[in-house]
Amino acid sequence: MKTVALFALLSTLVTAGPIESRSTQSCDTAPYSSGPKVSTSEHTILSLGAYAPFISRQSSLCRDTPKGFTVDQVTIVSRHGARSPTASALKKITATIAKATNATITDDAFAFVKNYTLDGYTADQLTDFGRRQMYDSGVTYAKRYKSLAKKSFTRSASQDRVVESSQYFIQGFSGQKFNIINSTLLTLPDVIVSEDAGMNNTMANMNCPAFDDATVDPGDVAEDNWTAVFAPPITARLNEKLSGANFTDADVAILMSMCGYDAIKNLDYAVGPWCSVFTDDEWDQNEYWFDVSKYWGRSWGNPYARPRYSGYVNEVISRLTGNPVVLGGSTNSTLDTNAVDFPLDRTFYMDATHDNDMSGLLAALRIGKDDPLPTGVATDKIPRHHFTVSQIVPFAARFAIERLSNKAGDKYVRILINDAVSPMDFPGCGDYGWAGMCELDAWVAAQSYSQDVNSYYDEVCSTNYNVTVLLE
Ligand SMILES: *[C@@H]1O[C@H](CO)[C@@H](O)[C@H](O)[C@H]1NC(C)=O
Ligand SMILES: *[C@@H]1O[C@H](CO)[C@@H](O)[C@H](O)[C@H]1NC(C)=O
Ligand SMILES: *[C@@H]1O[C@H](CO)[C@@H](O)[C@H](O)[C@H]1NC(C)=O
Ligand SMILES: *[C@@H]1O[C@H](CO)[C@@H](O)[C@H](O)[C@H]1NC(C)=O
Ligand SMILES: *[C@@H]1O[C@H](CO)[C@@H](O)[C@H](O)[C@H]1NC(C)=O
Ligand SMILES: *[C@@H]1O[C@H](CO)[C@@H](O)[C@H](O)[C@H]1NC(C)=O
Ligand SMILES: *[C@@H]1O[C@H](CO)[C@@H](O)[C@H](O)[C@H]1NC(C)=O
Ligand SMILES: *[C@@H]1O[C@H](CO)[C@@H](O)[C@H](O)[C@H]1NC(C)=O
Repeated sequence: MKTVALFALLSTLVTAGPIESRSTQSCDTAPYSSGPKVSTSEHTILSLGAYAPFISRQSSLCRDTPKGFTVDQVTIVSRHGARSPTASALKKITATIAKATNATITDDAFAFVKNYTLDGYTADQLTDFGRRQMYDSGVTYAKRYKSLAKKSFTRSASQDRVVESSQYFIQGFSGQKFNIINSTLLTLPDVIVSEDAGMNNTMANMNCPAFDDATVDPGDVAEDNWTAVFAPPITARLNEKLSGANFTDADVAILMSMCGYDAIKNLDYAVGPWCSVFTDDEWDQNEYWFDVSKYWGRSWGNPYARPRYSGYVNEVISRLTGNPVVLGGSTNSTLDTNAVDFPLDRTFYMDATHDNDMSGLLAALRIGKDDPLPTGVATDKIPRHHFTVSQIVPFAARFAIERLSNKAGDKYVRILINDAVSPMDFPGCGDYGWAGMCELDAWVAAQSYSQDVNSYYDEVCSTNYNVTVLLE
């Protein structure tokens, strides 16, 4: 099983700590929300890549705060809730489905195709399931960080679905009843940062020219490479079952995406017919399609990922240390130098954005590193890996960046990804590796690259930089 392999891998990264401390306390008592109750086999749901729903991950490291420590500040980075396909995706989906409904069905397992409809999607917008995911997230965090919730601050990237996600988060966080209403009637986040091209936005990067203007996206190349490996046998089978459809290899990922999309279309999670026409192995291959796409296009495999999100790392450092934000990179000096738009006196922060941005942020925070994911391997040779998109940035994904302190005033940092504690073993992290904690100064020192904005962001994001040197 993929999840078992993941935990095995993660635990090998953990540095040894004072084991006796762990054994003397409960590890898992904090409230965590669990995600949808699913009726189909979980294997499929865990292999839907970016179209998987948030599910609270089991943690191989102790989740509870170690005795003697309290969380005194937290930043939640949240992906928006589940949405309909984007406008460009819906166009492609419509064309692919038209091929399917036009075909001659030669296998009863595909009888559903005649009745299959794309009605009910509103391109780019949240679905009711997505709205509820965000509401539930707000409820859960208000409970989990009860004493911090009173002094909260919310920010959002500007796209409708992200702002609306923040609004439903706030609805849940502030103890209101779940109520789907016109978003003009919902409470707005404290700050909305523009996602227009060229704007300085730490949560959703829009101003790295070398990345923005590149003619080749390595994520697209990775998708194409992997599609050429895994799709042909599936394409052939589908063209046999749906005779005359004349599907191409590119149609395969589109049809598989409908499993994830149909499930989140309405308020209750309900898997649709496309989920059952592919095998477990094929679902693994589908997940890997997302993994190589995001790895090379947006995260560890992409040399621009860390510079693009170093501005966000600098904002996090500012919140954790109370020092002013080191400006430059993607920061907006107008926003980050005043206490209204970037306060430092709150205990609970929530920043809402997109999966692509969170994939980059992961690399910028130097967590969840994975070896290069090959795209030319045979389908039965997919390497064990932990950069698994459905586990990192599913719909309503969330990272929690906690600051913990004890009576002596020692401060530590801990990061949870969808409720699983992320191992951190930077130099000088200290004795709490078993709880995934790193001493604050050591953690900040480990991020020093991000504070060196001029020799990093400016140089890399300028168009002529030789990026191969940054892949280490
Ligand atoms: C549907 O089938 C007809 C007749 O075979 C063909 O002319 C048409 O191009 C097909 N449409 C699509 C969307 O495949
Ligand atoms: C298609 O829809 C019709 C009318 O609603 C229904 O009678 C039929 O059972 C459906 N067929 C399938 C395969 O779902
Ligand atoms: C929501 O309210 C605004 C302002 O009253 C209105 O313009 C808009 O049409 C409404 N949207 C829907 C979907 O009803
Ligand atoms: C910075 O933020 C201010 C305030 O929101 C905005 O008016 C300005 O356009 C932003 N500048 C950039 C470069 O993003
Ligand atoms: C795509 O495949 C080509 C040819 O095998 C290879 O050179 C390239 O590195 C691959 N790119 C990615 C991102 O996997
Ligand atoms: C099938 O699709 C290919 C590529 O899109 C096209 O060249 C070919 O004419 C199509 N064949 C039929 C029978 O529609
Ligand atoms: C936006 O970012 C660029 C590049 O780092 C910087 O030169 C510019 O001063 C920034 N603008 C604001 C308003 O912070
Ligand atoms: C880029 O840097 C790498 C590593 O230092 C070097 O091997 C390569 O020749 C450089 N390419 C260019 C075009 O300068």
